[in-house]
Amino acid sequence: MRAASLKDSVVSRCAATECIVTQPELSGQVALVTGGGAGIGRSICLDLAAAGCAVVVIDRADPTAVAEEIAAGGGRALPVTADVTVEGDMRAAVDSATAEFGGIDVLVNNAGVFASLTNGPFEEIPVDEWRLAMDVNVLGTFLATRAALPALRARGGGRVVNIASTTALKGTAFLLHYASSKGAVLAMTKALARELGDDGILVNAVAPGFTVTSGVESNPGQVAGMRDRAPGGRVLRREMSPDDVVGAVRFLASPSSAFITGQTVVVDGGAYFH
Ligand SMILES: NC(=O)c1ccc[n+]([C@@H]2O[C@H](COP(=O)([O-])OP(=O)(O)OC[C@H]3O[C@@H](n4cnc5c(N)ncnc54)[C@H](O)[C@@H]3O)[C@@H](O)[C@H]2O)c1
Repeated sequence: MRAASLKDSVVSRCAATECIVTQPELSGQVALVTGGGAGIGRSICLDLAAAGCAVVVIDRADPTAVAEEIAAGGGRALPVTADVTVEGDMRAAVDSATAEFGGIDVLVNNAGVFASLTNGPFEEIPVDEWRLAMDVNVLGTFLATRAALPALRARGGGRVVNIASTTALKGTAFLLHYASSKGAVLAMTKALARELGDDGILVNAVAPGFTVTSGVESNPGQVAGMRDRAPGGRVLRREMSPDDVVGAVRFLASPSSAFITGQTVVVDGGAYFH
């Protein structure tokens, strides 16, 4: 969703003859989004910007284009090229964010590897792929959250939203490294929610189902079966796009979810009920 179009929709009609344009829901907040340069992360960046956030777009690949898209829609953004698996990169990204925008309120741990991974029996999964999934999806979430923590505490609280996956909830076969890494993300979400509650930092997860992203489009052979099967397993029988994920993330970053922590919101068109 483009920043400008969502901004236009932040309008509440309070009477038939009257229309009040409200402040965007997250006005004045600063959000860091890892893996914001493409796919689900890009859509989250655009949506949070439309909701009023200044957005720090972090990606291993140059995320300038997404920051420019946000600026073109009237929002504020800072592109930061950084790798979530490198501790120094994450600390530098947080330093850049606080220097540019004065602090951090929201961290979205979205960077991940999925569609490029082997989809097959677990005994055929290469060990270096197992390590890659754990490195990016698990260690990356740990390092980004740890780097952001002092800045979140300095604001007196904040939000962490981890992008997990329904594969961890369903126990999806033939993706053991991926499903295991997202299971770890769900466990981290719960444990960190307990650990950081007294700091006013709420930690939740969003678990998307199979989503057609740039990563998926770039690996058609790897995900062909999943893409074909996914719509038929849903109550809502259609493909899922990155824009389907953003509303849950925005909710978990907003004052509307101020008494929710340690939870997982499934966004998959009704494939998995929990
Ligand atoms: N696509 C799906 O079906 C699906 C379903 C459930 C969950 N997810 C999760 O959603 C998130 C985004 O997935 P996507 O499909 O949009 O992926 P994608 O491949 O389209 O985009 C991922 C982005 O993360 C960046 N990235 C990868 N490794 C990084 C690193 N080490 N440091 C910084 N940036 C890095 C990439 O450069 C890319 O811009 C991932 O965590 C993924 O596991 C995806």
